[in-house]
Amino acid sequence: MRKQIVAGNWKMNTTVPEGVALAKEVAAKAKNLPANVELVVAPPFTHLCSVAEALKGSCVGLSAQNCADKEKGAYTGEVAVDMLVSAGCNYTILGHSERRQYYGETDEKLVEKTKLALSAGLKVILCVGENLDEREAGKHFEIVEGQTKAVLFNFTAEDMKNIVIAYEPVWAIGTGKTATAEQAEEIHACIRKVLASKFGAQVADDTTILYGGSCKPSNAKELFAQPDIDGGLIGGASLKADDFIAIALAF
Ligand code: 13P
Repeated sequence: MRKQIVAGNWKMNTTVPEGVALAKEVAAKAKNLPANVELVVAPPFTHLCSVAEALKGSCVGLSAQNCADKEKGAYTGEVAVDMLVSAGCNYTILGHSERRQYYGETDEKLVEKTKLALSAGLKVILCVGENLDEREAGKHFEIVEGQTKAVLFNFTAEDMKNIVIAYEPVWAIGTGKTATAEQAEEIHACIRKVLASKFGAQVADDTTILYGGSCKPSNAKELFAQPDIDGGLIGGASLKADDFIAIALAF
């Protein structure tokens, strides 16, 4: 059975002490969660070592928000997968729409990053999602299918055991406009169909697909009740431990 995951993408928020305090609060409150729900936090790079320390002994996983597309060397400002592992990460988010939109992240780069992350032993949370124009033009299925294939069809069924997909419609991120449970479900089901066409029904069935975009305690229950929605990638609401935990309790 596939895992249910609630991951908090802190984006470029909190100082190191604030992040450590938030992580400690999440770790303390995560004790009451059902065993089948995995919690993950994704702080900024600068926080990873300290947050890893704060999470020690808890069941909360640690994710980076990105990684370099090169192994090591003269790439000023980049952070390599081995560095993330040595800092205590077990996940990295890749292909977030903010990286695609503001930092020129392409599907080709994401293939390289995913390869490096998997070979270093990191699990990958790969983000896909259409923007508002694409949704209004009725192209949302096509866009999400295209992004999914462009990256994941370079990998094997074995690799898929360490890949989680996050569907994040760009128009729902940080806008307070959540996709309806039906809108999210039909895309999730479509992603699963795409996975089945390449890797077979079992892999498709075992892959965790998260929803992200203005997910909060008040709407998580309805979203997570959908058959193909296996949890959430949470932005704003993950910066408050109580809201983040309330979302995880929505299963
Ligand atoms: P919000 O939850 O703030 O809309 O952000 C979603 C997101 O981008 C998570 O990666």
